[in-house]
Amino acid sequence: MARFDGKVVVVTGAGHGIGRASALRFASEGASVAIVDLRGDLANAVADECVAAGGRARAYEADVSDLDQVTTVVGQVVDDFGGVDVLHSNAGRLRAGTVLETDLEEWNRTLSVNVTSMYLVVRTIVPIMQEKGKGAIVTTGSISGIFGEPALSAYTASKAAVVNLTRSIAIDYAKAGIRVNCVCPGWVDTGFNDPQFAHDSLSEADIGELIERTVPMGRQGLPEEMAAAVAFLASDDASYITGQILLVDGGLLSHV
Ligand SMILES: NC(=O)c1ccc[n+]([C@@H]2O[C@H](COP(=O)([O-])OP(=O)(O)OC[C@H]3O[C@@H](n4cnc5c(N)ncnc54)[C@H](O)[C@@H]3O)[C@@H](O)[C@H]2O)c1
Repeated sequence: MARFDGKVVVVTGAGHGIGRASALRFASEGASVAIVDLRGDLANAVADECVAAGGRARAYEADVSDLDQVTTVVGQVVDDFGGVDVLHSNAGRLRAGTVLETDLEEWNRTLSVNVTSMYLVVRTIVPIMQEKGKGAIVTTGSISGIFGEPALSAYTASKAAVVNLTRSIAIDYAKAGIRVNCVCPGWVDTGFNDPQFAHDSLSEADIGELIERTVPMGRQGLPEEMAAAVAFLASDDASYITGQILLVDGGLLSHV
């Protein structure tokens, strides 16, 4: 029996990178997966991949920082699949910059996509889980939510908020049978960090040196390695785990 047989899983930002790997992982373990992304073309492609691999999936185009779009999409998912058992709230954006380099519009957009989206999606899905008396939510944080980083002000602020939002939601809904945990990836080679590398004018060689110097395991993580952690926390294997922040970073934050 697969761990997610009969379960409905919503993954946001599932059109690319970590979210795509998570969607494929859940589908491979028996779930019906709702693939939500700002880019409908990417969401469609991932849904096709899930189905081609023998899974059940459907694509939904939405900006998860917009309440109306979140409400509509979650309603469609419930109509299509009959409920929601697991949420992987993962959509995110990164733009590099110090506070002086980050204008208010940029600041607001980063906080909106990385944090407000979680508030909106969780707020829309928790009542569905409460009715069922069970649910699991995994948020995607970042090592950048645990420590400060140069020229990444809006992003680090947003990810620190994700970490503590996760803990608060976990406490508030533990007795409702809903577990909430956060996976904090280290470096993962999805192209997501390109604005940071460009800001610092890092060449491919510089990036390689940075990874080698800062990551004890000496390499970037794979999206599939993040997905494995997400699936564990969302599964009944983690039935007594809630409010936890799991670093999946190759040991990066284990040393100074
Ligand atoms: N890649 C890394 O090194 C790394 C490290 C730490 C944390 N993370 C976190 O992992 C998550 C995924 O990152 P990734 O590396 O897979 O990035 P990615 O760019 O490969 O994928 C992000 C996906 O989210 C979608 N998206 C962006 N804004 C959206 C919105 N408003 N509504 C719906 N979808 C939206 C994008 O279209 C894209 O498909 C992010 O939350 C990011 O902060 C990534």
